[in-house]
Amino acid sequence: MVKTRPEDLNWNKLGFKYHDLPYRWVDEFKDGKWQGGHLTQDSSITFNEAAEELHYGQEIFEGLKAYRRKDGGINLFRPDQNAKRMANSAKRLLMEPYPEDKFIKAVKEVVKANQDFVPPYGSDGTLYLRPFMMGMQSVVGVSPSETYQFRIYATPVGAYVKGLKPMPYEVSDYDRAAPAGTGQAKTAGNYASSLMPSLIAKKNGFADALYLDPKEHKYIDEFGGANFFGITKEGQFQTPKSDSILPSITKRSILKLAKDLDLDPIETKIPINEIDRFAETGAMGTAAVISPVGSLTYKGKKHVFGSETKAGPITQKLYDTLFGIQVGDLADNYNWVVKL
Ligand code: PLP
Ligand code: COI
Repeated sequence: MVKTRPEDLNWNKLGFKYHDLPYRWVDEFKDGKWQGGHLTQDSSITFNEAAEELHYGQEIFEGLKAYRRKDGGINLFRPDQNAKRMANSAKRLLMEPYPEDKFIKAVKEVVKANQDFVPPYGSDGTLYLRPFMMGMQSVVGVSPSETYQFRIYATPVGAYVKGLKPMPYEVSDYDRAAPAGTGQAKTAGNYASSLMPSLIAKKNGFADALYLDPKEHKYIDEFGGANFFGITKEGQFQTPKSDSILPSITKRSILKLAKDLDLDPIETKIPINEIDRFAETGAMGTAAVISPVGSLTYKGKKHVFGSETKAGPITQKLYDTLFGIQVGDLADNYNWVVKL
């Protein structure tokens, strides 16, 4: 694959796509231990046709970003939380967790080695980092691998949804995760099962699908790549409490910031039949940051939240506060930012 050069990129029109940057991290778990890891220029992976991850989906991943500060330096946002969640995903998939300190060191090395690709301050671009791990052993019967590869690649990205523009979503009849399944783990299978419902939503003219709880189809779960939030007409921040959603780091951060903003935030079951209680709704995640939801269509009925063309005032405030901390413009009162 042809390597991307910084001069090939338009920082204000990055989109959300892969670029083959000069460096990525690779480490191997074999003979019962991680080998130490190193940067490599090789973006290809070689595995046997019977490799575990190809057939039985023993794969987990993470997503975090590096942000360019006004002074030219670079910030990471809560990489320790990604390390912890990846270890939890590893345990759920019977994989060998990558040690937290090594994870953070590897993230830093990948950012430093590709620092010319961290988009400039003032663009909406960031350097997206994708740590991932897969079972490499050749297996035929269904059993966990004994060898793993851990890698981190980086790619510069723009906003997942451009310019805080509210988007319409469709409540899906499909599930992405099962009750007591793997919804809390960031594993490939959850995303594979979301491909078709997502395509159906897009063909119906929506930005993506919103999933309900897989047991009763009564409560809001999450989007295919982000958690859900709503601001009630009384001004309370609400986000779903569910065992089948990904524990979002953005969500946990926003819960704290919403408390500071006197939004009395709660995690609670949100019945799909009661969504008209919301004046604003949105998606939150690393890629999504805070993305306003203009409408939700459920069983053919469209529910609109405030404006369909402009982000609501609280959604805008949450975005400004979170992104302000991430890029270093606002005080980092919770020590979330790691400076490079
Ligand atoms: N839910 C799903 C299914 C996701 O893929 C993501 C993205 O990582 C999130 C929620 C948001 O999680 P985070 O805020 O940690 O990025
Ligand atoms: C992220 O926000 O990091 C994600 O993994 C979402 C992904 C589906 C693009």
